Amino acid sequence: EEAAKIVLVEDPTKARAEKVKIGHLEPHRGSRVRVFGWVHRLRVQSQMTFITLRDGTGYLQLVLTGDLVKTLDAFDLVTECTIEVTGELKQVPEGKTAPGGHELVADWWRMVGKAPTGVDAYASLFNEKSDLSVRQNLRHLDLRAETPAAIMKVRAAVLSAFRAVYAKHTVMEVTPPCIVQTSVEGGSSLFKFDYYGQEAYLTQSSQLYLETCLPSLGDVFCVQESFRAENSHTRRHLAEYTHLEAELAFIDFKDLMDHIETMICEVVDMVLADPVVGKLVQELNPGFQPPARPFKRLDYKDAIAFLNEHDILFQDDDPAVAPRPHQIGDDIAEAAERKMTDMLNVPIFLMNFPKHLKSFYMKKIEGDEEFTESVDVLMPNVGEIVGGSMRISDIDELMEGYKREGIPADPYYWFTDQRKYGTSEHGGYGLGVERFLAWLTNRWTVRECQLYGRWPGHAAP
Ligand code: 4AD
Repeated sequence: EEAAKIVLVEDPTKARAEKVKIGHLEPHRGSRVRVFGWVHRLRVQSQMTFITLRDGTGYLQLVLTGDLVKTLDAFDLVTECTIEVTGELKQVPEGKTAPGGHELVADWWRMVGKAPTGVDAYASLFNEKSDLSVRQNLRHLDLRAETPAAIMKVRAAVLSAFRAVYAKHTVMEVTPPCIVQTSVEGGSSLFKFDYYGQEAYLTQSSQLYLETCLPSLGDVFCVQESFRAENSHTRRHLAEYTHLEAELAFIDFKDLMDHIETMICEVVDMVLADPVVGKLVQELNPGFQPPARPFKRLDYKDAIAFLNEHDILFQDDDPAVAPRPHQIGDDIAEAAERKMTDMLNVPIFLMNFPKHLKSFYMKKIEGDEEFTESVDVLMPNVGEIVGGSMRISDIDELMEGYKREGIPADPYYWFTDQRKYGTSEHGGYGLGVERFLAWLTNRWTVRECQLYGRWPGHAAP
């Protein structure tokens, strides 16, 4: 009854309260401010309510006292409500901690949007320890939790850093299409659909389009979604993923690897140097150290020898076939690659894969023509995060490549033209952004590194 009578009115005689985002509060210490946000945490005591408020830019501790905890709305305060609040921003006393080092002593507040209580309440739906599948189906709410939000913040910083580092190295951003009519990495993993009566696909890789930009724009990169219709239920396979690809002209294989190493290291340095994001990386991946340069270079043939020396066996696709030692020419499967990478425990350039395991466009090694100038970057805990190669520069060799892979040359006329009109030695690579993040933030699976994950059988929310 007492509560029903109390209506809070903003006091017009008080100093104007400037509207400020939580992440930008520090210069406003000692003044009145106005903040909007979601109730992230809540602790109700008899005469006082402590709230941690969240607005995406940060977290703010605030305290409601006196009449402020006696209104009707105060009884409806639960986590995930939205509120508007004014008050004086005070530095927390020495010895106490709070996000940002300050606390808002509220002098007025209002409910902007209520949130469900009881069994529908956010806190009872799940928490950070809930089963992963529960959290995945409630991803739209799970994103409000601290760890998922931190990963998304690191993701944004990683993408910004790549863009900045590419700009520094004069690599220009382009935006190739998602709807395509050619495959890059083989027909078996294409999502096909009807496109005004023609067959079209969701892109697997923008590589071929990037190659066409070299004569026009010089070195280029893109950040584009790629799609793979693989039925791979692994820690690192997605049906849709963010593919960061680059293509560079007039380089050799060594230049390509040096460039990849430079990109990875400069991006990591830039992300760690950001005071907010660098701290998030350390929280997600305690003790993370930027990789030492140069990365270890490991020839495919030496990797096969390494696997055999360490009794890591080759398993045929047919599980009925008994495991056997690896032979030159074998594909190094995910499990074997992961074991090797974790044993070596450093970033690795795995180089010179057999031609028959790789796509039609890869350049052969001069004098060792069954092998290619190809390279994967392998990172501890994840394995392959980058796949790249030098590309065929000779038109006859390209025609042979189409033939070997059973690819009809006609739809590739625009790609073939690159070899007719002024060819060049060139190379490039694709980096899986979610895999890079799984490495940097030490996640168990790449699924945690997408805003809304897409993997076999899962496309909602
Ligand atoms: O090795 P991939 O298939 O290479 C290409 O697509 C080249 N055309 C890229 C290029 O040279 N421009 O894929 C490149 C990277 C992989 O190293 C991996 O990080 C990521 O893309 N990737 C995936 N990430 C998540 N889920 C999947 N299903 C992925 N397939 C590839």
